[in-house]
Amino acid sequence: MSGKVALITGITGQDGSYLTEFLLAKGYTVHGIIRRSSSFNTGRIDHIYRDRHETGVKLFLHYGDLCDATNLITIIANVKPDEIYNLGAMSHVKVSFDMPEYTADCDGVGVLRMLDAIRACGLEKSCRFYQASTSELYGKVQEVPQSETTPFYPRSPYAVAKQYAFWILVNYREAYGMHLTNGILFNHESPRRGATFVTRKITIAVARITEGLDKCLYLGNIDAKRDWGHARDYVEGMWMMLQHDTPDDYVLATGETHTVREFVEKAFAHAGTTIKWIGETGTVNEVGVDANDESRVLVRIDPRYFRPTEVDLLLGDPSKAKKVLGWEAKLGFEGLVKDMMTAELAMVRGETTDPEAPRP
Ligand code: NAP
Ligand code: GDD
Repeated sequence: MSGKVALITGITGQDGSYLTEFLLAKGYTVHGIIRRSSSFNTGRIDHIYRDRHETGVKLFLHYGDLCDATNLITIIANVKPDEIYNLGAMSHVKVSFDMPEYTADCDGVGVLRMLDAIRACGLEKSCRFYQASTSELYGKVQEVPQSETTPFYPRSPYAVAKQYAFWILVNYREAYGMHLTNGILFNHESPRRGATFVTRKITIAVARITEGLDKCLYLGNIDAKRDWGHARDYVEGMWMMLQHDTPDDYVLATGETHTVREFVEKAFAHAGTTIKWIGETGTVNEVGVDANDESRVLVRIDPRYFRPTEVDLLLGDPSKAKKVLGWEAKLGFEGLVKDMMTAELAMVRGETTDPEAPRP
C-alpha cells in the first residue's frame, strides 16, 4: 500500500469521485477541496466519506476555492501533499459563454494560483501535479486524429481558459523544474456525469421516457462528434501520469468517434425503442420518432442548446499514453452506452442511487 498523501480539487465532481475511490484503494490518504454551498454538494462521495472522529479515516475534506489564493496556500501548507490532482473547474462549455470572466479566473488563473501555492509552501521539488487539461483545446481541429503535437484552436471561453492553464503549467515546468503534467483528456462519461452534459442528459431522458415519466428529449447539435470513454478508465490514467518520473503531456482517448445522434439511437435501442429520423437532416425541423409508432415524437431540436462556436469533431490518438504509460481505455462507445443506460434505468426505477459505488 502506498502511504502517499494526495490533494484533489474538484473532488465532488464526476472525476473527483472516481479518483478518490481509486486512490483510497491504493492506500493513499486523500484530501479534497470542496466549495461551501447552502445545499450539500458531496453526493458523489458520500458513500466513501466517514466522520473524522472515527478511527482509520483516510479521506478529509477542506473548504476552499480555486479563486482564493490564500486559502489554497493554507490547505497545501497543512496537507503537504505528495501529489495534487487539479480537477476543479467550471467545466461546462456552453455555460462558459454565459460566464466567461469567472471561467477564466477559475479554470485559467486558478491553475496559476495552485502552482504558486506549491512554490510558496516550498514543495516544488517534492509535490507532483496533474492538470485536468482537455481535448477542447483542439476546438476547430487542425488535424484528425488529434495527438500531443496537434496545434490548438480553442472555440469557447472554457477552452481558452484551459489553454492558459496548459501553457502556464508548461512554463512553470520548464522554469522551475517542477513535476507538472497536463492530461489532455477527451470526453469521459459515466452514470455520475453531470445531468447537463449531453450523454447523461440523453440517458436520463431515455430512462424517464421509457418509464412513462417524460415524453420528449430536447437537444442542440446532434451531428457533433465526440471520442467518448468511461471516467473510471481515465482517472487511472491520471494516476499513471504522476507515477512516471518524467513529467510530460499526454492524450487520453478511446480512438473512436461517434455523433450525438448515434448516442441517442443506441441509448433508446438499449431501452427497446428504435428511433427513426424524420424531417430535413441537420435542421431544427428534424425529429426523432418511435419507428413502431411514428406519432410518438421522442427527440426534438431546440436551438437554445446550440453554441456560438461549436467543436464539430473530436477524435483522439492515445498512442503516446499506451507506449509510455501502458494506458488504454477499457470501455469503448458500445460498452459506455450500455453501462450508462443500465445504471440510469436502475436509478429511475428507484433500485439504487449510485450503481457504480463500491459495495462494502
Ligand atoms: P465536474 O463533474 O463538473 O466537476 C467539477 C468540479 O470542480 C466539482 O467538484 C466542482 O465543485 C469543482 N469546482 C467548480 N468550480 C470550482 C472552484 N471555483 N473552486 C474549486 N472547485 C471548483 O467535472 P468533471 O467531468 O469531473 O471534470 C473534471 C475536470 O476535468 C474539470 O477540470 C474538467 O474541465 C476537466 N475535463 C473533463 C472532461 C470530461 O469529459 N469529463 C474532459 C477533459 C477535461 P461543485 O461540485 O461544488 O460544483
Ligand atoms: N450539453 C449539451 N446539451 N450538449 C449538446 C446538446 C445538449 O442538449 N445537444 C447537442 N449537444 C452537443 C454539444 O453541442 C457538443 O458538441 C456535444 O454535444 C458534447 O457536449 P457536452 O456533453 O456538453 O460536452 P463537451 O464536449 O462540450 O465538453 C465536455 O468534454 C470536454 C472534453 O472534450 C466537458 O466535460 C468539458 O469539461 C471537457 O473539457
